[in-house]
Amino acid sequence: MNSSSEILIIGGGTIGLSLAIEMKMRGASVTVISRDFKEAAIHAAAGMLAPQAEGIPPGPMLDLCLRSRSLYPDWLSKLEQVAAVSTDYWPCGILAPVYEPISDIPPASPPAIWLDRDAIHQHQRGLGADVVGGWWFPEDGQVDSRALAKALWAAVRELKIDVREGVTVEAIAQQNQRVTCIRTSAGDFQAQHYILATGAWSNQLLPLPIYPKKGQMLAVRAHPSSVELSPTNSQSGSLQRVLFGPDTYIVPRRHGQIVIGATSEDVGFTPGNTPAEMQALLARAIRLYPQIQHYPIQEFWWGFRPTTPDEWPILGPSSCPNLTLAVGHHRNGILLAPITAVLLADLILQQKTDPLLEHFSASRFFNRQNSQTKQTVVCLPADNSTTIKNSPSMLAYATLQATSARETSPSLSVDTPLIIGKRQFNSRLMTGTGKYRSIAEMQQSIIASGCEIVTVAVRRVQTNAPGHQGLAEALDWKKIWMLPNTAGCQTAEEAIRVARLGREMAKILGQEDNNFVKLEVIPDPKYLLPDPIGTLQAAEQLVKEGFTVLPYINADPMLAKRLEEVGCATVMPLGSPIGSGQGIKTAANIQIIIENAKVPVVVDAGIGTPSEAAQAMEMGADAVLINSAIALAKNPVAMAKAMGMATIAGRLAYLAGRIPVKSTASASSPLTGIISQ
Ligand code: GLY
Repeated sequence: MNSSSEILIIGGGTIGLSLAIEMKMRGASVTVISRDFKEAAIHAAAGMLAPQAEGIPPGPMLDLCLRSRSLYPDWLSKLEQVAAVSTDYWPCGILAPVYEPISDIPPASPPAIWLDRDAIHQHQRGLGADVVGGWWFPEDGQVDSRALAKALWAAVRELKIDVREGVTVEAIAQQNQRVTCIRTSAGDFQAQHYILATGAWSNQLLPLPIYPKKGQMLAVRAHPSSVELSPTNSQSGSLQRVLFGPDTYIVPRRHGQIVIGATSEDVGFTPGNTPAEMQALLARAIRLYPQIQHYPIQEFWWGFRPTTPDEWPILGPSSCPNLTLAVGHHRNGILLAPITAVLLADLILQQKTDPLLEHFSASRFFNRQNSQTKQTVVCLPADNSTTIKNSPSMLAYATLQATSARETSPSLSVDTPLIIGKRQFNSRLMTGTGKYRSIAEMQQSIIASGCEIVTVAVRRVQTNAPGHQGLAEALDWKKIWMLPNTAGCQTAEEAIRVARLGREMAKILGQEDNNFVKLEVIPDPKYLLPDPIGTLQAAEQLVKEGFTVLPYINADPMLAKRLEEVGCATVMPLGSPIGSGQGIKTAANIQIIIENAKVPVVVDAGIGTPSEAAQAMEMGADAVLINSAIALAKNPVAMAKAMGMATIAGRLAYLAGRIPVKSTASASSPLTGIISQ
C-alpha cells in the first residue's frame, strides 16, 4: 500500500493543486496523484477572470464566479508568498464589444458600463470599424495562466505536499458505498478522504457527465515599435485590457504577449491545431482588433475544457461519503479555483456546507424528476398491460390485440424464473438501447417487449453518443435491470476498466447491488467477432472483483466451458455477427453449449426475426438478447412486442417438448387412441 494521508486528491491540475494547497495550509496531510501535469487545462487557458464578460446569467453560477473573483487578490497574494513566484495578476477590466446595434441594453450585474460607439472607440483605440458599442466590466481581469501554474507547483513544493506525478489511476475501489483505495499504475493508495479533480478525463473513472470541449488558441507578440507596453498608458493604441468579442477574446499580457482564443469544439480528445479553425479564429480576432494582423505569431496550442451538460461544475459529495467531486469547471477553472478550494476544504475538513454548493451537486444530472422526457413517459398501468402515451407509432401497435408479453399465462406457471447470479427474472428477453431513431421509440419498444434486462453501452453513455443522452431519465430503472456492456473495448484491460465504470453507472441509477457486466472484448471492427483470449482474461479478473459476468462469445463450446469454470454467470454465444440479422448460423455449436452448460445460455447477436428468437428458445437457450432487429425495424414497437411474444412461445414450446422428427407420415386422424361413444 502506498501513501496513506488524510486527503488524497486525484488530479494535479488547477483545481487539484489549489485544493491541495488550501487543505495543507489548514493543517491536513495531503497526497496528490497526477498523471501528467502538462495535460492540465491550465496550460491552455487564457487566464481570464471573467464572470461578467462570459455572460453568465444571474443565478448560482454567476454568484459562485463573482465570489471567486472577489477572493482572487488575497488568494493570489497568499500563493505568491508561499511560492515566491509572481502570477502576473492584472485586474485590467474586460471590454466586451458587439457588432450589432442593441436596442434594449440588457441590465448587466454591476459594475458594468454600457459604452456606445463613440465611447467604446474612445475607451479603446484600435478596435475594428464594425464595433458599434459594448460593455465595460471594470472588475473582471486576468492572471497569467502559465505563471499561475508555476506558482501552484512552487507552492506545492514549498508546502511539502506529496505529489505523485506520472501515476495513472486505474480504478476507484469501493465497498459498501465507501472508497476503499485508489488503484494506480504505482500501486494502491489509501486515505481517509478522496477528492476527484480529474478535469476533462473524469468520466474515465466515474460515470459523470463530463466531456472534453476542445479549445484552439494562439499567441502573437505585440510589436514593440508600434505598441506602448506600459500598463499606465491607456491613451495610446496599446491594448491595456482584455477584449472579449463574439466567440473570440484577446488577452494582452504585461510582458507583451497577446493570447488569442478560443475555439469551442466537440471533437473528443482529438489533438492538434487545424487550419480551418485557426483561420476562422484569426479572422474573428482581426475583425475585433485589426492591428494584431501584423504581429508575429509565437505559438499555437490547444486544450480540453471539462464540460458538463449545463456548463456548471460538479462540486460536493458523491455516492460515497468519503469521496468528494471537484470537476467539470468548463471555461472557468482558473476563475473558480479559489472558491472551489475554500468551499470544499470547509466541507471536508469542517463539515461546513455553504448553501451555494447544493446547486452544484452531481445529483442534478441523475434526478429523474428533472427529466424533460417526462412528457413522453411510458406508463405501465396496474393491470400490467402496456400503454404508451404520445406516440403515433402506437396507433399501429394498439391494433395488436395479442397477449401482453408481460402477462403471465397459467401454462407459464410451470416455468421457473431465469436466474443470473443472485437475481431472478421472469422475462427471458433482453434488449438494448442502441440504434433507435428516437428516445421515445426506444422507451416504447422496451416496454412493449416485456423485457426486464436492458443492456447499455457504458462507453457510448460516457461519450454521450447519439441515442445515449438522457438514458438515466429515459427508462424506469426501478423496473428495468441495467446490464452495462463493454462494447467498444478492444482489449481485456479496457473492458475491465469500462466494467468498473458500468458498476458506478448502475449505482447512480439507484441499482446499488448491480454488479452485472456484459463482457465484450472485440478487436475486429468488420465482423465484430469477440476475442476469446481477451474475453477469458477479462472474465477471470472481473469475477475476482465480484462482478456477475455475462461474456459475449463466439459459439465455441470449449470456451463456454472455460468461462463457466472461471465463474461467469452466463455464457452468451452469438447466432451470427452483431446486427447482421442473419439468424442462428451457429445452431449446432449453440446446441452443444446448451447441453453442457450449468449456467444460463443467452443467445446474443444475429437474431433478425421473431421466428429466430423462438428457434433459439425452442433449442433450449435460457434467454435471448435482441437489439438491432427491434431498433431498426420499420415499427420497432410492434417488433419488440413480437420478439417478446416469440421468446415466450419458444420457451413454452421447449418446456412442452416437441414431437420427434420422423421420416414417414403419421395420420392426423389416427384410428387408435380415439374416444369412442
Ligand atoms: N475561459 C475561456 C475559455 O475557456 O476559452
